[in-house]
Amino acid sequence: MLLNVRQYGEPVLRAVSAPVEKITDDLKNLVENMIETMYATEGIGLAAPQVGVNMRLVVIDIPEDEEEEGAEPEMITVNGEQKPMRSIMPLVFVNPELEPYGKQYLFTEGCLSVRGIRANVARPEFVKARLTLLDGSTMELDCGGLLARCLQHECDHLDGFLFVDRVSSAAKITLSKKLKKLASSR
Ligand code: NI
Repeated sequence: MLLNVRQYGEPVLRAVSAPVEKITDDLKNLVENMIETMYATEGIGLAAPQVGVNMRLVVIDIPEDEEEEGAEPEMITVNGEQKPMRSIMPLVFVNPELEPYGKQYLFTEGCLSVRGIRANVARPEFVKARLTLLDGSTMELDCGGLLARCLQHECDHLDGFLFVDRVSSAAKITLSKKLKKLASSR
């Protein structure tokens, strides 16, 4: 079932989400619908608040970089072992703990909840993450690239932050009119 993706201006996007206490059938059902919605909207990640649920739950599916044909698959560290990034997709987790590290760099971000706006956001290049999977196990990741970026963007949603909060102050001024319009048009 496709879910309604909440849009900029809706309070549910600004709340701090609660930890998931128990992996229930209802939660698994929600995950299925979130994945379906993410694919249908061509997103690479979706956090539960974006579908109106203030729980610390995220789904991510990052495709292999299509521009680099014939390139080696992107590798990341999963529970201390090197694995292809694609091998853990789609990635579904609750109650993430992130430790971003490394130099900040600018990358253009967009968001299914902030339609029609893309902007450069500075974030650390790498992330160490401790994630709880739906079977109750823990996954420890150490990664860079788009996954590190996406993890930071999605986990921001769990604390009520949007990428437009993290742009430079000059960009904030440029974006403010568009954002006001977005908030009033929903
Ligand atoms: Ni987003």
